[in-house]
Amino acid sequence: MTLEKRIIESIRDVPDFPKPGIVFKDITPLLKDVELSADITTALAEYWISKEIDVIIGIESRGFIWGNALAQKMKIPFVPIRKKGKLPAETHAFKYDLEYGSAEVEIHKDALREGQRALIHDDLLATGGTAIAAAELVKISRGVVAGFSFLVELGFLKGLDPLRKYSNDIHSLITY
Ligand code: PRP
Ligand code: MG
Repeated sequence: MTLEKRIIESIRDVPDFPKPGIVFKDITPLLKDVELSADITTALAEYWISKEIDVIIGIESRGFIWGNALAQKMKIPFVPIRKKGKLPAETHAFKYDLEYGSAEVEIHKDALREGQRALIHDDLLATGGTAIAAAELVKISRGVVAGFSFLVELGFLKGLDPLRKYSNDIHSLITY
């Protein structure tokens, strides 16, 4: 079976979570399958290993899971972007709009060095708002957005297009 098929078969659809009408893509079953989880890391690394990447940025919280695994595999540093108020040292912050209300994410000011090429990783691309916020934090930190990596892309939400102004190198293992 292809990796794509194995991932699709393992992801659990949870209807009406977190709100009525939304079908939540639950990745926790992938984590229980040790071989599948490792194969995901390998597939991500296969795509990115030959590219010029200095650091992997993972977005809290589900972006930490394979983000750090990928960084380990590529033997490069991992940098977390966290939701507001979680990082202890000095931070840069970026606020963005959600459907209802807003969200804010942060990165440590000393997380990136000027000119470092950062790959932004998250489990899922929906509207793209979170990934854009991460890209803005990379720019504020004077890093370079080297690409975007996702496990799952919800294509119908058109989150991809607004990412292209930061980088055209966008990779997803599966697209719905
Ligand atoms: C989910 C998902 C992505 C983001 C995608 O995270 O893990 O980070 O939403 O949505 P967007 O493309 O519309 O911005 P969530 O905020 O649910 O938090 P979590 O990762 O901590 O579960
Ligand atoms: Mg998330």
